[in-house]
Amino acid sequence: MKKSFILAMMAIIVASCTAKEPKVLITYFSASGTTKSLSQDLAKATGADLFEIEGAQPYTADDVNLGNREARAFKEMADKAMRPELKESPKNLKDYDVVYIGFPIWGNYAPNIIYTFIEKNDLKGKTVIIFSTSGSSDLTNSFNYIKQQYPDLNLVEGTTLKRNPTPEARQAVIDKLKQAIPAEK
Ligand SMILES: Cc1cc2nc3c(=O)[nH]c(=O)nc-3n(C[C@H](O)[C@H](O)[C@H](O)COP(=O)(O)O)c2cc1C
Repeated sequence: MKKSFILAMMAIIVASCTAKEPKVLITYFSASGTTKSLSQDLAKATGADLFEIEGAQPYTADDVNLGNREARAFKEMADKAMRPELKESPKNLKDYDVVYIGFPIWGNYAPNIIYTFIEKNDLKGKTVIIFSTSGSSDLTNSFNYIKQQYPDLNLVEGTTLKRNPTPEARQAVIDKLKQAIPAEK
């Protein structure tokens, strides 16, 4: 047997013994509970830890009232540079290899607090899986904007859960998001 072949086999064996399951954190922002409930189910399906992204000033039902163009959400959507303050950041983010970031789509983009979260936390070197919930919008526009704003991050486009899904469609979203976790560190 060739020496190079034996060395290659040894390298594969060593690599398979040292490969570790990635440590996964699901972070999410949710104004009315849909993204929260999806994130909780994804955490159950993956065994990942959960962290809720909250505003220092909490988002109320009035803040996301679609019937009021003066509502806080509309002001934030109109100013992409606005950075709502976070209540807090995850304390042990450095321990995680994979970080999901989930949010409701607002005006075909992520809510600005997601940009605050990305900018206030060191996500470099981690796999960052983006997902969303929405009325009908796809994730692609929101994802592409995040990718353009933060080109140094290892971003993965997950998927969106659209309004009133069948149980099968909801499960398909959870399955797809689960599969986005890389097999090993
Ligand atoms: C201010 C605001 C803007 C929204 N913009 C969109 C949109 O552009 N496209 C869409 O499909 N849904 C839109 N929606 C619907 C939400 O994305 C959807 O209801 C989401 O699941 C809510 O998630 P949450 O309960 O976690 O906050 C919007 C909702 C709000 C409150």
